[in-house]
Amino acid sequence: MSGYPRHVKLVEVGPRDGLQNEPSPIETRVKVELINRLSHTGLRTIEATSFVSPKWVPQLADAEEVLTQITRKEGVVYPVLVPNMSGLERALGVGAEEIAVFTAVSETFSQKNTNCSIAESIERFKPVITRAHAESLRVRAYISCVLGCPYEGAIDPADVAGLAQQLYGLGCYEISLGDTIGVGTPRQAAAMVASVAAFVPIEHLAVHFHDTRGQALANILACLPLGVSIIDASVSGLGGCPYANGATGNVATEDVIYMLQGMDIETGVDLCKLIETSIFISNTLGRDNQSRVTRAQVGVRSQT
Ligand code: HMG
Ligand code: MG
Repeated sequence: MSGYPRHVKLVEVGPRDGLQNEPSPIETRVKVELINRLSHTGLRTIEATSFVSPKWVPQLADAEEVLTQITRKEGVVYPVLVPNMSGLERALGVGAEEIAVFTAVSETFSQKNTNCSIAESIERFKPVITRAHAESLRVRAYISCVLGCPYEGAIDPADVAGLAQQLYGLGCYEISLGDTIGVGTPRQAAAMVASVAAFVPIEHLAVHFHDTRGQALANILACLPLGVSIIDASVSGLGGCPYANGATGNVATEDVIYMLQGMDIETGVDLCKLIETSIFISNTLGRDNQSRVTRAQVGVRSQT
């Protein structure tokens, strides 16, 4: 299809963005099995966990155990979230190969999520990025609230562009643009990405849509013709941010793959294996599966 990329890189964020927000405790072995199963679906980037303060996100307090117990598959990278130097030290201690730092384009959200202003978060990252690079780790960066903030409302795309440019200038190789509360719609999403792409090369931009209002696939479709070829998604649509009230999970990875397959866009992912993994995690957690594709597949199976 002309105007669309031929290949898309999927960044699976379910084990981190998904599980950080689950209400009841999850055993480490379940997290490990989820990541191991995902590793065999063809996904090449699986965000495994988060080295944030366990007081702030108790659900991921076992980050060290998770990263040491998974079976790392050759060719797959397992990035981890890191908020500060102490998070980086912990991640280095268990052999992390890639980290992701995170900030927001809204001052209020930044305070609620990381207890500091946007400028302070950048100052915090500088030594983290320098040290990570010295240890040959790649550094990704997230910007939250790019299409709206739960506390401040509308966000100016020029502010997103300015922040993305700053993070890219600090050496973050990929900037993930997060619609944290799933408030954006396609035209708005495309305009925001276009304004950021004027400052950061499009091949270094990822989109990260939470699906709170069912807009995520439409938003992705609107951004693909701009040259976006990196998409964050979460198996079974797990997830949300504990510091963004009402934010539901990311777009389900299966739904994204299904759409891309139908458009002849390569992802390298085996949809059947991914659906099996999706059923495994939603059944294990005893939660509703948010993926339309998985729900349809289960429905078809039960009729035959
Ligand atoms: P703070 O309380 O200001 O930190 O939190 P502090 O530096 O003042 O330290 C306080 C205590 O925490 C100390 O311990 C530190 O050692 C400890 P104490 O002396 O009291 O015993 N501490 C740590 N312990 C372990 N690991 C660490 C760490 N850092 C400090 N890394 C901080 C500041 C940033 C740490 C905190 O606010 C935090 O951890 N926030 C993370 C919140 C979070 O994880 N949110 C979800 C992820 S972001 C997201 O989901 C959005 C995204 O998906 C994109 C999108 O959708 O938009 C990425
Ligand atoms: Mg998120």
